[in-house]
Amino acid sequence: MKVLLINGPNLNLLGQRDKNFYGTASIEHILGEVQSMSAELGIQIDYYQSNHEGEIIDYIQTYSPQIDGIVINPGALTHYGLSLRDALLDAGLPVVEVHLSNIHGREDYRRNSVITSLSIGQVAGLGWKGYLYALEGLIEYLKS
Ligand code: DQA
Repeated sequence: MKVLLINGPNLNLLGQRDKNFYGTASIEHILGEVQSMSAELGIQIDYYQSNHEGEIIDYIQTYSPQIDGIVINPGALTHYGLSLRDALLDAGLPVVEVHLSNIHGREDYRRNSVITSLSIGQVAGLGWKGYLYALEGLIEYLKS
């Protein structure tokens, strides 16, 4: 089983960004934890991050035929990225959406996600461990 983990704009700066919302863990640390969990679960994980919506779409279009599901933190694209939404829809794969912060308790413009309605679920507000919970949820879904 192969899963794609995607981070959208600015998430390359985790650990340096607003620590009140996004915590102190670096992306390297988070990816290490994700890799350990993937090894335990016996799955393969590919990681992609970009600050550009079109590049994320290109990546999804290229690799979706080779993977079983997607865990994605779309960053701010969550709230307006309709091209990204279309690419995820066209991929036809199960998607789990993840956010470090609780987008439902923040500014009004962050409360709406254009991704949620195509996702099998969303994890929000549980910090970097949310990536692990999202991955676990996706794998359970794929196995069921
Ligand atoms: C985020 C929430 C978004 O609103 C924000 O633009 C981000 C990160 C999160 O993980 O909490 O970049 O997706």
